[in-house]
This record gives sequence, structure tokens and C-alpha cells, in this order.
Amino acid sequence: MPSYPVTKISTSDKQVNILQLTDLHLTSPVASIVENDDEATVCQHCFETVLHQALNTDIRCDLILVTGDLVSQVQTTIYDHIFEVLEATGIPFACIAGNHDVTDEAGSDLPFLQRQLIAQPADKRLLSRHAIDTDGWQLLLLDSSITGKVAGEVTPADIDWLCERLSACDKPALIALHHHVIPVDSAWIDIHMAENAEDFWRHMAAFDHLKVIISGHIHQNQVRHRQGVTVYSTPSTCYQFKPFENNFSYDKNARPGYRWLQLANNGKVASWVERLDT
Ligand SMILES: [Fe+2]
Ligand SMILES: [Fe+2]
Repeated sequence: MPSYPVTKISTSDKQVNILQLTDLHLTSPVASIVENDDEATVCQHCFETVLHQALNTDIRCDLILVTGDLVSQVQTTIYDHIFEVLEATGIPFACIAGNHDVTDEAGSDLPFLQRQLIAQPADKRLLSRHAIDTDGWQLLLLDSSITGKVAGEVTPADIDWLCERLSACDKPALIALHHHVIPVDSAWIDIHMAENAEDFWRHMAAFDHLKVIISGHIHQNQVRHRQGVTVYSTPSTCYQFKPFENNFSYDKNARPGYRWLQLANNGKVASWVERLDT
């Protein structure tokens, strides 16, 4: 059984295969229901079904990266369950916090802007400024959450840490964080992206070997480019938001999803989203 958190990954075939899962949104006691016309989406069931589908393909999975919003109610027992499920895979994994891991929303039946935000302490197993070294890549995990807020932040201390790590290692680098660092053309969620993003980008300009950023939070697949960096956002394992909407809107036709990233030791990247089979 790999120990948590993983800090080193070595493979035999010159590439590392990463499964990104994000925005699980598990609630107590077992399920979170989102109305979806004729059917209901059950987040706990979706998380485990997504994981099962992803791991039952012919892609070897070297690392599972969980990029925040693991829960929709901050309770230790829900994290216990998620960690048990992930540990049972026998695959190294790493989890970082999203806004919902440090904030409970009261009135989730109310319109988005009317919900009350209640600050909560983060589960100690969620990682912050954590580096994973692979044969060909450096993976840098950030906690972008702010207790009691929907928006996130890349803090000056985070930027210092990133600059330190990127200066010390010239392998191709990937940064993983929950909040998006490029607007995605949806006003309601772009208000809640990572604050301080321009300062982050200004500092990252010095590092040509920063190749990839992955995040969650926006519950949809997007691929963008800036400063030579490919920036991926990934669907939720549960429910999706409609792209390019300025008001909060579920995408009721989009299936739960997950992302594969194949990072080759020569710096090449292949990445794609898979959806849950119907
Ligand atoms: Fe989320
Ligand atoms: Fe989020």
C-alpha cells in the first residue's frame, strides 16, 4: 500500500499517467441529490462509478490527483470514506482542498448568491504546497482555498514557493490547484476564480519549463493557453455547470467526467476528458 502523501513516482516506460478527479461533492449521510429532470445524480455513487470506470481501462494509472471540493459538507467521516476508497485502489494519490472543503453553504436550495457561507477548518489530509517528483516531471500542488469564501487565491507565499521549486528543478512542471487562474467566460464563476492570478502569471513568465496547469471548480471541460502553458479544467465526477453562461446554470446534458494526463519524460503531454458511460 503506497503511503500518503506520495512524494516520488517512478515508472518503467518513460511516462507517468495521471488520473485527475475533481469536485466530488460528497455529503452526509451518503448522497447529494441534484435535480436532473427525470433522474437524480447521486454524487457518492458517481465518484465510485467514475473511479471504477477509469481504473478498468487499459491505461496504467500511476497517480490519482483529486483537485478539491471533495465534500459539500465538511465532516471528517466523509473524508474517511473517500480516503478508504482511494487507498483501496493501491495507487498513489494526492488530494488538495477546494472552497467546499473549507466552507459550508447554508441554504443550498436557495439561489447561489443568497446562500450563507460558514467557515470550516480544512481536513488535515488535504495537501498544501506539496511537491511530487517523477522521473521526467515535477508536480506542484497548491491549496488555493480561502476559509469561508467561494473564490480562491494564489498567495504571495504560494508564489514564492512555486518560484523556489521551479528554480531548483528544470524538469517540465505541472501545477495543480482547485480554482481557475484564467477566466472561462462565465461571469458568475469568474468572480470566484483564484485571486492574485495576474501576479501569479507575472512570476510564472520566468519559467519556460512550466508546461501544464490543472484545476477544477468550474465543473466543465476547458483547455486554454497562456505564456506557453496549457491550462486544463476538468468536469466534476458528479454534476456539471453550463459553459459560457453568465448566470449560475447546471449543464443537465453533460455526464460526470474525469481527465487523463500522460506526461512523457521528454516533456510531451497528452490529455483528454472521459465521461461516465450511460
Ligand atoms: Fe465544485
Ligand atoms: Fe469549487
